[in-house]
Amino acid sequence: MRCLQYALSVLSLVSSSVLAASEIHSHSRKPYDGQFIEVNNTNSAVEWWYAQALGAPVANGVTSSFQILFNLGALVAVGPRDPAAPLYTLAITGFFSNGTAFEVTLAAENATVTSGHGEEVTGTWGSIARFHASRDLKTFDMKFTHPQISGTVVFKANNAPHYACNSTSSPTFTSVSKGLTLSESEEVLFNQLGWIATTPGSAAKVDLTVKGAPLKFVGNGYHDHNFTPLPINALVSSWYCGNARVGPYDMSFVLVKPRDNSTNILTTGYLSRNGVVLQNQCSINGTKSRDFSLTTPYGAKTEAGVVVPEGYIVDYVLHNGEKFSFNLTSYDANPKRASYLRWVGNIVGGSVSKGEKFTGATMLELISFP
Ligand SMILES: *[C@@H]1O[C@H](CO)[C@@H](O)[C@H](O)[C@H]1NC(C)=O
Ligand SMILES: *[C@@H]1O[C@H](CO)[C@@H](O)[C@H](O)[C@H]1NC(C)=O
Ligand SMILES: *[C@@H]1O[C@H](CO)[C@@H](O)[C@H](O)[C@H]1NC(C)=O
Ligand SMILES: *[C@@H]1O[C@H](CO)[C@@H](O)[C@H](O)[C@H]1NC(C)=O
Ligand SMILES: *[C@@H]1O[C@H](CO)[C@@H](O)[C@H](O)[C@H]1NC(C)=O
Ligand SMILES: *[C@@H]1O[C@H](CO)[C@@H](O)[C@H](O)[C@H]1NC(C)=O
Ligand SMILES: *[C@@H]1O[C@H](CO)[C@@H](O)[C@H](O)[C@H]1NC(C)=O
Repeated sequence: MRCLQYALSVLSLVSSSVLAASEIHSHSRKPYDGQFIEVNNTNSAVEWWYAQALGAPVANGVTSSFQILFNLGALVAVGPRDPAAPLYTLAITGFFSNGTAFEVTLAAENATVTSGHGEEVTGTWGSIARFHASRDLKTFDMKFTHPQISGTVVFKANNAPHYACNSTSSPTFTSVSKGLTLSESEEVLFNQLGWIATTPGSAAKVDLTVKGAPLKFVGNGYHDHNFTPLPINALVSSWYCGNARVGPYDMSFVLVKPRDNSTNILTTGYLSRNGVVLQNQCSINGTKSRDFSLTTPYGAKTEAGVVVPEGYIVDYVLHNGEKFSFNLTSYDANPKRASYLRWVGNIVGGSVSKGEKFTGATMLELISFP
């Protein structure tokens, strides 16, 4: 689960007419981008498709960026679903090349997610936005046709899709939970929440007009997809995550503290080199001496009224003992809310034994419900 994202609370356009339910296909294995859970007005389920593009790294860390959540349901919610709240929303944020933040939040009248041949999936959010995963998953593209956002974003994958925990069959964290005594919310977090990294690394081309201004750049893309029967605030007290393409590496990490002071701290680590997976692990923090990743926040600064880290050191130790270390520094955040910060920043690192210091742009997130 790379980066959990949540539906932004302020919607610039709200429609209460919920028209279409989404189509759910049953394959022997669902396409990676297919819909995994039913979301409707009488349950609390949520499923979202996240995509992000980052321009070339710049010295102050705030490169051109674009992020979107195609949401079915609300990632953060208290109590039963408000039937008047829109089910189908788009939360778009980023930075123009001059460092100015933008945000576009929209509600669609309807949304459908349909499967075609192979891995092909098409998501349509009303007449506003569409995403399309190609049947070989080599291309993921998005198209926008709204006065506030129009144009295209195209990802060309350079890494294969994956689930967490190096599973080829299950998008959940069930393999981690074996042998643990789980609370009710942990049972959902470990066994029912799913993460699918459809495009862990790609080349990205962004060609958009956002609120009348051009947002055009080439860089790196990342796309994943999550689902859960309960909103994320019912499951976790904090959720740190990040991803980057740096030199020949694509990396991501997640560090999740379940709610109620649980000590079952979930970690994931994904690292590939030239598209070859070096690590794809999930585990309870501190339980492994090989094939693990360690995320260590450092520094402190105050943003949106909360004290947050200045960055993270993310270390990977492979099965064979080989070590990699990356230093991710956060710069400006958008969204920048007390419970949800998503920063652009810079990353430096690589193989420890080779002393590699590759540099790149990164995206970091902290979602917290203290
Ligand atoms: C909503 O989804 C639940 C599954 O979470 C299903 O049992 C229920 O029948 C659905 N309700 C409607 C009105 O479709
Ligand atoms: C979905 O909403 C759009 C308007 O946003 C409308 O044109 C279209 O007919 C709707 N589709 C369905 C299946 O209701
Ligand atoms: C930065 O670029 C955006 C989009 O072109 C523009 O709206 C904004 O005014 C610019 N900001 C500054 C400080 O130049
Ligand atoms: C979690 O720990 C904090 C600080 O020790 C304490 O105030 C709080 O009551 C604990 N919460 C639960 C649900 O145990
Ligand atoms: C992932 O699992 C496969 C077996 O399904 C194994 O061959 C491979 O080494 C594992 N990769 C990593 C990075 O753990
Ligand atoms: C994770 O485990 C390491 C020890 O392996 C420990 O130093 C670190 O504080 C732990 N992180 C969290 C968030 O508990
Ligand atoms: C990580 O990068 C930051 C910002 O450049 C720097 O201040 C810090 O010393 C670095 N930490 C390590 C352990 O290299």
